[in-house]
Amino acid sequence: MISISTIAIKLLMLLSFGNIWISRDFDFFYFVQQWPGSFCDTKKSCCFPLTGKPVSNFSIHGLWPNFSNGSFPSNCNIAENPFNQSKITDLIPRAEKGWASLSCAGSKKTENNKTSSDNTRFWKHEWDKHGTCSDLILDQHAYFEATLNLKDRVDLLQILQYNGIKPDGNLYSIVNITKAITQAIGLEPGITCNTDPSGNRQLNEIYLCADKYASSFIECPILPSRKSCTDMVEFPIF
Ligand SMILES: *[C@@H]1O[C@H](CO)[C@@H](O)[C@H](O)[C@H]1NC(C)=O
Ligand SMILES: *[C@@H]1O[C@H](CO)[C@@H](O)[C@H](O)[C@H]1NC(C)=O
Ligand SMILES: *[C@@H]1O[C@H](CO)[C@@H](O)[C@H](O)[C@H]1NC(C)=O
Ligand SMILES: *[C@@H]1O[C@H](CO)[C@@H](O)[C@H](O)[C@H]1NC(C)=O
Ligand SMILES: *[C@@H]1O[C@H](CO)[C@@H](O)[C@H](O)[C@H]1NC(C)=O
Repeated sequence: MISISTIAIKLLMLLSFGNIWISRDFDFFYFVQQWPGSFCDTKKSCCFPLTGKPVSNFSIHGLWPNFSNGSFPSNCNIAENPFNQSKITDLIPRAEKGWASLSCAGSKKTENNKTSSDNTRFWKHEWDKHGTCSDLILDQHAYFEATLNLKDRVDLLQILQYNGIKPDGNLYSIVNITKAITQAIGLEPGITCNTDPSGNRQLNEIYLCADKYASSFIECPILPSRKSCTDMVEFPIF
């Protein structure tokens, strides 16, 4: 015989479990790539990883769970599911190529006294802040693998170059940059800009959207604001 109190306890468990689920829910992913030339061409400057200067190509910033209303969850489950690099050992060579850190934050001095960036610190930050908010769908290995796979599916630099938009330090129109990518992949990207040391706006990050499994690109439910960009932006050399 099932007593009322057993049912009540079960109901309570269900409700609280439901709440945990809701608090870690999200609507879609932003897959964000950055242009290393723009990251480095600021007053703050940049550092290279121990593996050396990355190739001149777009590079992963992160895979960010977002809500369709424009807000986003962050730092959801660090205590229970902290970054653990030994879970992604097999993916490190790919991540070193496509997801390198250029930040001097927490940097280390190398043997020849040069400052280098710290990839592990970058990946840990991305997992702890963003990945733990989607960890009911993608565990650490799946999250990093899905992100690297998304990058392989769209060659942004090739798309832009095919349309005459090259990282040569010249100015290009945001409308043309957006059009080139939209025509190539059938989905409109988000674009954000940053500022070089002399105050010019430059192409900084390109946002694409992916479904909750990070398995396919989708139309963005909401695009990031373009207000950091001017109509014409620099595409710096790297
Ligand atoms: C956006 O949607 C999420 C999930 O439904 C909700 O938790 C959050 O409060 C909403 N934020 C705003 C600014 O409306
Ligand atoms: C989406 O989420 C990221 C980080 O989680 C945040 O930086 C960004 O502002 C959000 N974008 C929008 C348009 O809300
Ligand atoms: C990190 O992950 C490995 C492999 O799953 C596991 O053996 C190890 O205990 C984990 N380390 C920590 C500190 O949780
Ligand atoms: C740039 O990255 C894309 C994947 O996003 C890759 O297909 C392409 O080969 C890379 N190009 C260079 C020059 O490394
Ligand atoms: C945009 O692209 C078109 C076609 O390639 C070109 O004729 C035009 O000059 C470009 N506009 C700007 C502002 O660069």
